[in-house]
Amino acid sequence: MGERKLLVVVLAAGEGTRMASRIPKVLHKIAGRTMLHHVLEATRAAGATRTAVVIGPDRDDVAAEARRVSPEAEVFVQRERLGTAHAVLAARAALEAGADDILVLYADTPLIRSETLSRLRAPLAQGAAVAVLGFRPEDPAGYGRLLTQGDTLLAIREDKDATAEEKAVGFCNAGLMALSGTGALALLERIGNANAKGEYYLTDAVELARADGRTTVATEADVDEVAGVNSRLQLAEAEAIFQQRLRRAAMAAGATLVAPETVFLSADTRLGRDVVVEPHVVFGPGVSVGDDVTIHAFSHLEGAMVDTGASIGPFARLRPGTRLESGVRIGNFVETKAAHVEKGAKINHLSYVGDAHVGANANLGAGTITCNYDGFGKYRTEIGEGAFIGVNSALVAPVTIGKGAFVGTGAVVTDDVPADALALARSRQVVKEGWASAFRARHAKDKA
Ligand code: UD1
Ligand code: CA
Repeated sequence: MGERKLLVVVLAAGEGTRMASRIPKVLHKIAGRTMLHHVLEATRAAGATRTAVVIGPDRDDVAAEARRVSPEAEVFVQRERLGTAHAVLAARAALEAGADDILVLYADTPLIRSETLSRLRAPLAQGAAVAVLGFRPEDPAGYGRLLTQGDTLLAIREDKDATAEEKAVGFCNAGLMALSGTGALALLERIGNANAKGEYYLTDAVELARADGRTTVATEADVDEVAGVNSRLQLAEAEAIFQQRLRRAAMAAGATLVAPETVFLSADTRLGRDVVVEPHVVFGPGVSVGDDVTIHAFSHLEGAMVDTGASIGPFARLRPGTRLESGVRIGNFVETKAAHVEKGAKINHLSYVGDAHVGANANLGAGTITCNYDGFGKYRTEIGEGAFIGVNSALVAPVTIGKGAFVGTGAVVTDDVPADALALARSRQVVKEGWASAFRARHAKDKA
């Protein structure tokens, strides 16, 4: 099957009115990725040789996302919404180019797996003209019904066109379809719109192919894979299904999730072996974690690379551009951004480290803050290897603390500190012996 040329047509013209959103439906995200991205990813994994994305008119945003994810994809516009067969024909140039197999996918059905696409496509190699993906929803109302006889698919009847007897059928059309490239264009062009909705139904391809004496089949898929998203509620349901998949995959790959249902992952999260993730941790996009890392409870990571054996949190926030080398310790209420922290350095309590480089084994005391922003520009802080920053210090960037230098507690550091020096930047303490007792005596006298 790998030899067969595969064209995938992704229908992404969903208008999304029920989302109550300014954003087109297919650009809403699941696990940090747009639904369109998910489908294009499955398309790629299924081995597509050519990808066509059909969008609605004036949807530059959808076209841009398609090109960002799959630069090789061709984008076609369906000018008028006249039905699913009409939408596929919008990609006419791609159809005319010819393919052995054609898959039609919906961008609002983002949970489909590439393995299932391969299963859907398999009968084409055996000579089938059309293969559709069926499923058994709890409530079939609204879906096209698959009318079968044994393994043979006789027809798909749209809900609005179905008789009472046909409506009683629980086996439904998921919408995704595989078409043999041979004669596909001619088949699609023969589809008419004499039905309850006056639309060109892709599903009519089944009866037309059968009239030509060709084979049509239905392949069953899990309900969870073909769940379509038409509302915010369904978006949340799809997110839940996908999160469960990600958690299982992370555990299967050797990470411990102490309370998996409380951990939220992104589609691209990478966790190494023997990583321990405590409850209530959120991974935004772009996080990669090496082996033997512990992420303590209530931490939030995004755009961060964490090397072997580091320890993070509880209550830590790693923002984009964070790179933690092996053995680094990031403690509670610490925020990092665009910070490269080298091996063994410690930032254990209540700190903000942004636009910074921290050398190996440096120790930043509680309340160390890099002052990286003056309202206009961002400036860098350099902290040398083995430097020791005293508690409650403000490092006013741009500033460099040399290798092995000490900064005394409570400093506001505005000038560079040379290697191995001590910087003190606070007012000297004054002690007045007996002042407190004299103060109290004076007030006691005034009261009497
Ligand atoms: C379709 C199927 C139905 C199936 C159901 C599964 C047809 C005729 N019916 O019905 O058998 O059970 O999906 O959810 O195919 N689209 C366009 N342009 C159009 C019309 C639709 O791009 O002109 C896209 C939509 O954005 C959507 C998909 O095609 O992604 C399905 O269209 P929709 O109108 O929702 O079809 P259903 O009536 O749900
Ligand atoms: Ca639909």
